[in-house]
Amino acid sequence: MSNSPIGIFDSGVGGTSIWREIHKLLPHENTIYLADSKNAPYGPKGKERITELSIKNTELLLQKGCKLIVVACNTATTNSIQHLRETYNVPFIGIEPAIKPAALQTKSKTIGILATKGTLSSELFHKTTDLYANGVKIIEQIGEGLVQLIEDGHIESPEMENLLHTYLQPMLDANIDYLVLGCSHYPYLIPKLKTLLPKHVTIIDSGIAVANQTKAILEHYHLLNSASKLGTCTFYSNRNPVVLRKILQHEFSVEALDF
Ligand code: SIN
Repeated sequence: MSNSPIGIFDSGVGGTSIWREIHKLLPHENTIYLADSKNAPYGPKGKERITELSIKNTELLLQKGCKLIVVACNTATTNSIQHLRETYNVPFIGIEPAIKPAALQTKSKTIGILATKGTLSSELFHKTTDLYANGVKIIEQIGEGLVQLIEDGHIESPEMENLLHTYLQPMLDANIDYLVLGCSHYPYLIPKLKTLLPKHVTIIDSGIAVANQTKAILEHYHLLNSASKLGTCTFYSNRNPVVLRKILQHEFSVEALDF
């Protein structure tokens, strides 16, 4: 069982930002990544549809023998992880916006969060902010259109720059000093965000925390792979594998699979 793969799924290519951290921390683990780009973005979809898609992805990963599943999508986590945990007998790790560390460290007592509509309107997100953002003002911004541009391979485009500029301005006007990235696609925007944000604004994403949690849960269930060789990394995409290959800097091959 311990040499079974870790399964990771996302609404597309963005969850590879999480896969990277897991692979860096646990290089001996075999991993299988599903990019459900055909159904991206999940953000504007309703809870029921997001849950249906999460079930479809989970069942494919289970058929492939995964020992643990990482839901590398904020929207899928906040809308469906509870259902997945109640339904399937494997551990699930989710990704949530890093509100807690930002709220603990902010000096201006104002933080920004950029995420999808599905994440910002979820019950889990509201519970997290109620719990951790005591006395801290949160400027929420839906990143409408950003996921689609990343999925279409247009990270470096004037359209992307314009959207980011529009989304960041109200946060800058409110004097944020932390920007929380609440979508696993957004870490690919960090180089661009750094050119648009003043130096005193710190960007936080959740990739490292998810990798640490994955390791802790594997240890807890005695599921860590003890092999000394590097793990295998398998990637599947159900739309345009070329974009996923490019995001992976052509270091790994990507199989087209209809799921
Ligand atoms: C999306 O598919 O709309 C975004 C994925 C995420 O929330 O991480």
